[in-house]
Amino acid sequence: MAEGKVFGCFSIASVAATYDDIYVPRIFIPWAQLLLQRAALSPGESVLDVATGPGTVARLAAERVGPRGRVVGTDISAAMIGIAQEKPVADQAAAIEYLVAPAAPLPVADRSFDAVTCQQGLQFFPDRQAALKEMRRALRPSGRMVAAVWREITLQPSFAAMDVALRECLGPDAEPYGAPFRGPGNEALRQELSDAGFKNVSVDEGRLPLTYEGGVEQKLATLAASPVSAAVEALTDKERARLWDAGRRRLEPLVMDGAIRTQMVSLLVTATT
Ligand SMILES: C[S@@+](CC[C@H](N)C(=O)[O-])C[C@H]1O[C@@H](n2cnc3c(N)ncnc32)[C@H](O)[C@@H]1O
Repeated sequence: MAEGKVFGCFSIASVAATYDDIYVPRIFIPWAQLLLQRAALSPGESVLDVATGPGTVARLAAERVGPRGRVVGTDISAAMIGIAQEKPVADQAAAIEYLVAPAAPLPVADRSFDAVTCQQGLQFFPDRQAALKEMRRALRPSGRMVAAVWREITLQPSFAAMDVALRECLGPDAEPYGAPFRGPGNEALRQELSDAGFKNVSVDEGRLPLTYEGGVEQKLATLAASPVSAAVEALTDKERARLWDAGRRRLEPLVMDGAIRTQMVSLLVTATT
């Protein structure tokens, strides 16, 4: 990607669109496939995907439960739901209903789903216990819940590298990535699920490769989808050039044959009602 395009992308690309273009195929689809293996969905089942974002987990779940199944995706962001609604659903997949809604309260009936999924959503909810109780309320007896929560940023090399570059340029008090990598740890998740009434709670760690084949410039373009996108956009050209230099320097150790080749680590949760 040309540098001018990267510099220019902040004014034309919304957070949701950048997230969808760059992060979804490289991060969220592979992780959704891993998460859904744990949900062990069968044809005809019903699935609720909480914090569905652009509907990545919802669409893959719809393929697994097939045309006799049912999928509902909820998210607090109307922009994300708008992107989800525009995406085609595969042939032989369940219909998907998308709702703009917070994680608590959920606008769904009691005991109406076989499975609830929540990929990288729990760490954002202001009242996680209320959200977990809502997910449990939505599940049928013997329903199951699967969720994923990133581990800390120091274990996610490409984000850690950009975090350092951003702090260098925006100041030590900047919170470049914040919530996504500040989720509960293994023990806290177990406790919170148990407190919400879930049984058979299991939390383990997953690790998947992450490649930005567009290299450093592609990673820099993801700043448009970061919590500091407005601060970066407000920089002067000179300050932004300094940030881009810092980003290139910090990301360089991850580059192989022009691509960033790294990995991500997440906690993976499964539980039943
Ligand atoms: C990192 S994204 C994950 C999206 C999606 N699950 C995926 O795998 O692509 C986090 C999502 O949580 C949503 N979110 C944040 N706070 C929320 C809340 N209180 N209730 C519902 N959704 C929320 C955001 O709008 C965003 O779409």
